[in-house]
Amino acid sequence: MPSVSEQSHAHAGYRPASDVSIKVENVSITYRTAYEKIPTLRTTLLRLGRREKLVREIEAVKNVSFQVEKGTVLGVVGANGAGKSTLVRTIAGILPPTEGRVEVVGRVSTLLALGVGFNRELSGRENVILGGLAAGLNKMELEEKYEEIVDFAELGEFMDLPMRAYSSGMYGRLAFAVAIHMDPDILLIDEALSVGDAKFRRKSFDKMRSLCAEDRTIVLVSHAFGSIRDLCHQAVWMNKGHLEMWGEANDVVDAYRDFLGVKEDRTDKEDL
Ligand SMILES: Nc1ncnc2c1ncn2[C@@H]1O[C@H](COP(=O)(O)OP(=O)(O)O)[C@@H](O)[C@H]1O
Ligand SMILES: [Mg+2]
Repeated sequence: MPSVSEQSHAHAGYRPASDVSIKVENVSITYRTAYEKIPTLRTTLLRLGRREKLVREIEAVKNVSFQVEKGTVLGVVGANGAGKSTLVRTIAGILPPTEGRVEVVGRVSTLLALGVGFNRELSGRENVILGGLAAGLNKMELEEKYEEIVDFAELGEFMDLPMRAYSSGMYGRLAFAVAIHMDPDILLIDEALSVGDAKFRRKSFDKMRSLCAEDRTIVLVSHAFGSIRDLCHQAVWMNKGHLEMWGEANDVVDAYRDFLGVKEDRTDKEDL
């Protein structure tokens, strides 16, 4: 007969549903893009202005399921066009799944590929304030965070210029600084780690490490095997819209690297 302690030990692996931070269930995402067939003179004359509308469907994500527990850093790897960004946009709630469901518990902060979210006609200061309000911070929290964000982004005197005057590096630094200072429960980062110079990347990396230590959930899309290995607990490998593999970060990187047949150290150094 098992003792009480043995019994409770048997249950140690059980995690209540509330520990799940992101649940992706049988998710498929199809883009439907309407376009017009390029008319020739002959077809134009024949149709006299009636245009032929065509719809092209791209199944970017196909029946993908996985979940991320609170406090986990999940890496996402895969070739260009594999569906990584599409998946992240859906987790962010920007793009609804065509099929299946996504459940997200907590406040999400998104750092999508550079350029999303900011209005280039507004100043850096205005964008930070709008971003903060959109993220649900109140005025006091914002005032407190504002200086931290500007410090982190190292943009002091540029904050009052319209963002169209920013270099892509400045733009990216501000995007990163805003995303990580929003106290997110869930931080989604799509290939944005390579922003800025080596010093800034190191600082970003350290900041992400400290977020991880605070039990935040992070989803990190990256081609940098070193970053995935160093930062992530688990990883998913997307291949042509399918979930090719979901497991321990090191195992997934090993498998993906073998699939690509590449040497790893080059990628590592390039990306950090
Ligand atoms: N806005 C869009 N409209 C139509 N097709 C898209 C759009 N965004 C991505 N796609 C297509 O979806 C597929 C997956 O793209 P994406 O999620 O960006 O892959 P990854 O981030 O892994 O490079 C690709 O075939 C791409 O061409
Ligand atoms: Mg992408």
